[in-house]
Amino acid sequence: MKFDDDLIINAKKEICETKDIINLNKLKIKYLGKKGYISSQFLLIKKLNKKEKISKSIIINYQKKIIKEIIQKRKKEIEFKINSKQYLSQEIDISLPGKSIKMGSEHPLSYIIKKIENFFIKIGFQIVIGLEIEDSFHNFDALNIPKNHPARTKKDTFWLDKNILLRTQTSNVQIRIMKEKKLPIRILTAGKVYRNDCDSNHTPMFHQIEGLYINNNVNFVDLKGILSLFLNFFFGKKCKIRFRPSYFPFTEPSLEIDVLNKNKKWIEVLGAGMVHPNVLKNVNINSSKYCGYAFGIGVERLTMLYYNISDIRLFYKNDLRFLKQFKLNNFI
Ligand code: PHE
Repeated sequence: MKFDDDLIINAKKEICETKDIINLNKLKIKYLGKKGYISSQFLLIKKLNKKEKISKSIIINYQKKIIKEIIQKRKKEIEFKINSKQYLSQEIDISLPGKSIKMGSEHPLSYIIKKIENFFIKIGFQIVIGLEIEDSFHNFDALNIPKNHPARTKKDTFWLDKNILLRTQTSNVQIRIMKEKKLPIRILTAGKVYRNDCDSNHTPMFHQIEGLYINNNVNFVDLKGILSLFLNFFFGKKCKIRFRPSYFPFTEPSLEIDVLNKNKKWIEVLGAGMVHPNVLKNVNINSSKYCGYAFGIGVERLTMLYYNISDIRLFYKNDLRFLKQFKLNNFI
């Protein structure tokens, strides 16, 4: 039996000349297959004696290993060529726009609440959070609202049971804070309030911002001063505002402020007044030593004036055509 030394050289030449995987597989079968060259060599050495068998099988195994390696290498080369051809022929259109992620934007009411809070923080007010589910003591009784007041009826207020309700005003926070905090008190709280009302100027849920300042030397002029300062900051100096005497059971004297809108109509935006001595008494504050003012701002009203929005219900419709218009106001 003769062992062909040129085998590897010839196999290598043949393998390297193949241009595709199909022909490469044919060569793989030719050399390494069950009936291929290497297998037939193993069959031939069966007849040899033990010593020769060992030495020749070493040679055949070596040839097998080398041919296997040459085939694997060639396979990789062919595959690489095929892939690079594919990549090059594929036209990648770099002008194709990517998939954009649509950014949401801050709701106009959130933006306005932040804007107002920032103003009052700067002049020393502390931001606090109140309860939306409240009892009648904090929402009505302690605020000096008489038992037979129409605001207490089922027609106006959402009662959860005989004593518990969805707060109708953020003034409930006045009571809780005066009970809890040490004097002097200077707080601001923003939040949702609920009243059974719905038309282009009312929604059953809306927002108020309540301010409260209690100290030993607070007066009505301070209140008027701070509110004019705030409205000048908010609307600019050209905006026309008017103070109107008013009545709230929990403040005395009381006032309301109206703002002149684009159609020359006065729109009420906030109520305020000096905290009523009965209210101070209800929370154990000595009204001969301390006094203070409180105010309640209608957030939707101010926002409607600010952006010239005619229907309050638009704030809660989640209509993207409406919401998109406030994109630029994301950050203060
Ligand atoms: N709570 C009043 C309202 O809802 C507003 C207000 C607050 C008035 C504080 C006076 C003082 O109309």
